[in-house]
Amino acid sequence: MIKYEENILKIEDIQAIRKAVHWSMFTENQLQQALNMTVYSIVVKDDENVIAMGRLIGDGIYYLICDVAVIPEYQKQGIGTRIIEKIIEYVQNHLQNNERCSIQLIAAKGKEAFYESLGFARIPSDLSGHGMQMFIKKK
Ligand SMILES: CC(C)(COP(=O)(O)OP(=O)(O)OC[C@H]1O[C@@H](n2cnc3c(N)ncnc32)[C@H](O)[C@@H]1OP(=O)(O)O)[C@@H](O)C(=O)NCCC(=O)NCCS
Repeated sequence: MIKYEENILKIEDIQAIRKAVHWSMFTENQLQQALNMTVYSIVVKDDENVIAMGRLIGDGIYYLICDVAVIPEYQKQGIGTRIIEKIIEYVQNHLQNNERCSIQLIAAKGKEAFYESLGFARIPSDLSGHGMQMFIKKK
């Protein structure tokens, strides 16, 4: 049975899922720090097998969705959609009256339509220029 568990994502889960989707790895030190600074996480299990994850970081005004991944055998079954919906629900539930915020993310190449179907808008737009990023390595 597939279950969505909140805020118990572990280093080993991230490592296993990143490996399954062929994402490069981070050090355990970085993963532990990332988990400590995560405001909301989801790990999806089929029985006890870890099959998907998603993480939200942020400060209540600006949020970033990261590490959204479903292992290949379980893709295209609605799991990624449910993860994003649950993250949006978390953000919505943490706003008080008259408050607003935004959720940012960088779609993996080719996944833009997936996020658009969930309510995200591509940038640049009339309001915003391009998203920008910089990668930094230890010198
Ligand atoms: C991107 C990703 C998270 C999407 O997760 P997913 O669980 O496959 O997503 P969903 O099943 O909710 O939706 C994916 C597609 O399957 C379709 N789908 C959903 N349920 C379905 C079902 N039961 N039968 C057939 N298709 C279905 C959706 O309509 C959607 O269509 P689209 O490709 O036109 O958007 C997943 O493909 C993944 O982990 N990829 C590798 C890592 C990655 O790129 N992560 C994104 C980082 S930004």
